Parts: sequence; structure tokens; C-alpha cells
Amino acid sequence: TKNLITIDGPSGSGKGTITLMVAEKLGWHILDSGALYRVLGIAAQRHGIPLDQQEQITQLARNMDIQFVLNEKSGEIEPVFEGENVGLDIRTDEAGQAASQVAIIPSVRDALLARQRDFYREPGLVADGRDMGTIVFPEAPAKIFLTASAECRAERRYNQLKSKGVSANMRALLDSIKARDERDRTRSVAPLVPAEGAFVVDSSNLTIDQVMAQVIDFVVE
Ligand code: CDP
Repeated sequence: TKNLITIDGPSGSGKGTITLMVAEKLGWHILDSGALYRVLGIAAQRHGIPLDQQEQITQLARNMDIQFVLNEKSGEIEPVFEGENVGLDIRTDEAGQAASQVAIIPSVRDALLARQRDFYREPGLVADGRDMGTIVFPEAPAKIFLTASAECRAERRYNQLKSKGVSANMRALLDSIKARDERDRTRSVAPLVPAEGAFVVDSSNLTIDQVMAQVIDFVVE
């Protein structure tokens, strides 16, 4: 069986951080599937394709020129779209909203399926997203579902943006998180639910280290 850990959950649940930490600890690779959807959202906007043009967006999902490159300085993996580093552009709230809009298109999700599975590399992969354990890697031996209250998640996103020098508004972030939650949870394709057998962690009142300890406990069991 493959060395796979899936980490799914809503926006701001801490998936990204935990994914990085788990991958680092195990020396495994990472799939940030949200970044793929975010780049697609940006790509559509740059090509002037309205986000509800299902066929054109699907074409773009199949053909878009995207690479993930390790930034030696920061140690972060950054998306490069059509030769341009879009690492900062994809982190805006607007890009998140665009991502969740293209993510509701079934043919887009299909188009990205093989691309996501291609990320598997020895010695293993930690996959971060919404449907990693349910759809993309249902065979994964270890599945995690990370969640937290909307208020906690908005606050974390606020602090994260601030630390990156991106301006943010708390009230707007909370509204945005709730809107995105609603869209992700109620969509007919790949709705955000814990995979069968997933270990569910509510991180509202836990520090990153506490979450990490629980996750590692579960994974090495
Ligand atoms: O962490 P955050 O939710 O802010 O963003 P993300 O993980 O980068 O995902 C952005 C959007 O892409 C989500 O709101 C989902 O709608 C969509 N997405 C998805 O549908 N499936 C995935 N595997 C990952 C992201």
C-alpha cells in the first residue's frame, strides 16, 4: 500500500500548517490541492473567462501550465503559472472565492483528478484539501479531518494575512469563510465531509503542537 496521509477540512482549520509539519517530520512530499483550484481561479480571471463558463474552465483545468517549485530560501513550495510565480496572488481572499467557484464544476474536478494523483512520490505523500480522503486518495491508510469554529478560523486567517503583510478585515473574513463553508458543504460534487474512518480533530481550543501530537499519534498507530 502507498504511504499516504490525507488531511481534509474547511478553510482556516490549520490543514496547511499541519500538512507541512507532518510532511517534514516524515520526510514525505506534499500536495496542496487548494493551490491548484486557486491557480485555476486566477488563470480563468487572467484569461478573461467568467467563472461560470464550465466548458472553458474545464479546458483550462486540463491544459493550464502550472508547476510547483521549491523556493530554496523560504523552504516553501510555490506555484508557477505560465512561468510566473503566483505564490502571493493565490493567497488573496478573492482567489479563494474564485477557487471555490470553479471547484463546484464536476468536469473541473474530474480534470484535476489525475493531476492530483500524479503528485504521489516515494517515500510518501501528505495531501491537503477537501476531498483527499473521500475522492482523490480513497485508498489512503491514514485520513485526518481537521475542523474548528468559523470564528477561530477567521481569526487565524486574519493573523496569517497580517503576518504576510496582506491587508485584512476581520468582519469581512468571517463572512467570507462562512460563505465559502456553505458553498463547500452544500455543493453536489465532493461536498466537504469527513472520509469514512477519518480521525476528526476539532482544533478550536488546541494549539498547533497539540493538534500535531494527536495527528502523529493517530498516524503511527
Ligand atoms: O485553506 P483555504 O480553504 O483557505 O483554501 P484552499 O484549501 O486553498 O481551498 C480553496 C478552495 O478550493 C476551497 O474553498 C474549495 O472550494 C476548493 N477546494 C476543493 O474544492 N477541493 C480541494 N481538494 C481543495 C480546495
